[in-house]
Amino acid sequence: METIEVKTEPYSDQKPGSSGLRKKVTVFKQANYTENFIQSILDSIPTHDREGCEIIVGGDGRYFMKEAILIIARIAAANGVASIVVGQNGIFSTPAVSCIIRKRSARVGIILSASHNPGGLDGDFGIKVNTQNGAPAPESITNKIFQLSKEIKSYQICADITVDLTRIGKQEWSIHNGKKFTVEVVDCVQDYSDLMKEVFDFEKLRKFLTVENAPKILLNAMHGVTGPYIKRIFVDELCAPETSIINYVPKEDFGGHHPDPNLTYAADLVEILKKGEHDLGAAFDGDGDRNMILGKNGFFVTPSDSLAVITSHMNCIPHFVKQPVSGVARSMPTSTAVDKVAQCKGLNLYEVPTGWKFFGNLLDANKISLCGEESFGTGSNHVREKDGIWACLAWLSVMAERKISVEDIIKEHWVKYGRNFYTRYDYETVETEAANKIITKLRHMVNESSFVGAKFSSSDKMYEVKFGDDFYYEDPIDGSIAKQQGVRVVFIDGSRLVYRLSGTGSTGATIRIYVESYESNPDTYSMDAQIVLNPLVQIALEISSIKEITGRNAPTVIT
Ligand code: G1P
Ligand code: ZN
Repeated sequence: METIEVKTEPYSDQKPGSSGLRKKVTVFKQANYTENFIQSILDSIPTHDREGCEIIVGGDGRYFMKEAILIIARIAAANGVASIVVGQNGIFSTPAVSCIIRKRSARVGIILSASHNPGGLDGDFGIKVNTQNGAPAPESITNKIFQLSKEIKSYQICADITVDLTRIGKQEWSIHNGKKFTVEVVDCVQDYSDLMKEVFDFEKLRKFLTVENAPKILLNAMHGVTGPYIKRIFVDELCAPETSIINYVPKEDFGGHHPDPNLTYAADLVEILKKGEHDLGAAFDGDGDRNMILGKNGFFVTPSDSLAVITSHMNCIPHFVKQPVSGVARSMPTSTAVDKVAQCKGLNLYEVPTGWKFFGNLLDANKISLCGEESFGTGSNHVREKDGIWACLAWLSVMAERKISVEDIIKEHWVKYGRNFYTRYDYETVETEAANKIITKLRHMVNESSFVGAKFSSSDKMYEVKFGDDFYYEDPIDGSIAKQQGVRVVFIDGSRLVYRLSGTGSTGATIRIYVESYESNPDTYSMDAQIVLNPLVQIALEISSIKEITGRNAPTVIT
């Protein structure tokens, strides 16, 4: 098989964001765009490590994934990689890639996904790199890839390789100077499902789902990657009826929907749950790392509460009984609900910037076993990615042990720890200049010495500033520093406002405003979060001048 060198010109925009390089499909389809980035990924690996290594490759089934897999195979072969392992039909969920990298001690993983962003010809595509520990590559590596992409002059390719992704088994080629290159197509669910069997008590869950009057579950794969996984795990293994899973055939355009499991984009699941016929509902995003949990009658569990509840019920999960939980972590904007559980149970708590990559070092160093983000991400040390199916199995395990409803589990939690009311306002596709202006203005505001003690009021509520800052994180393991990770305003009563710009969008800027208040008066627990938080929301909007600067009267999405 012949290797050729193709001359190319660098692109200047291949800087990975919070979660890999995400752009419109049309951008990835530009001449040599994908090839340049793949070559840059391979160039970021020292030659002695790259030669003869194994790479795990797969994605969420979105449009352009198969073309990208072929490009990866051809460039990997030409660059001395010994083998790539790819899921059948190119499918691998993000947590499954993390699991397989770890299981096979692969050198690197390449995930083809733009997560929850829409797919299709006019949609988004993305390429994410995971390192040897199975975690998303840290900034030191993504910056290196970006640097290489700006300097690239040529790439190496075995242009004649074609791969049959439908056929499980090995396909081999002889590359120049006698070296072999293998593509191994594997069952995309097996290794992941084996891991879930180690983490959870499948026997107990099977009984729970099959006894007389067993609880009914409804899982929505949103036409993303989790379809084959929920079919195998919940239907084939745990014996839930096939009617328990919907939208479980992966589609290149996710059926034209936004594969994002939240109250806006998974509203159809909420509507079904509202009928009161199911006891647990869950939805997963395009690549399977996000989850939304609902109880009977559409009772919504906030991701922040979900993390807190799983932490307080860690004894219901065999994995945590075998390896007791050492500590927990949450992203800075995630509500402080889990902090109270950590304090009560004597666990260490870490607050990290937004993005799963910041949990990697803490997990590796065994400082934490559980972590989560408000953005529908929950996970543990079983892999190095957030994991939607894991979160659903964790909830099922809690229910199987407690034998009470999702709503009762949450209400009991509030009674014990108090309730953190929480909401997030997203303003999507804002002009970049306007978005930067808002953040700069807020940054100046919190840096003023007079800011501490400042008072803000709305309706009959008054809030006094305890402190404000632009979140700064020093990794306790490797000392790396992340600056300007979100402007936060913390009030004396523990309420918080956080402002940050999204790092995952593909067009314009997205401004996120996170609003949280803490209540310990049981009379408030059953109140609607939007009503309780309204005075704080008004303050958040006012001090950012978001309406004046962007001309937007309302956010695109409220969670
Ligand atoms: C968003 C979420 C963040 C998550 C990331 C990848 O990033 O806010 O918590 O880790 O997606 O799923 P953002 O767009 O805010 O940078
Ligand atoms: Zn995702």
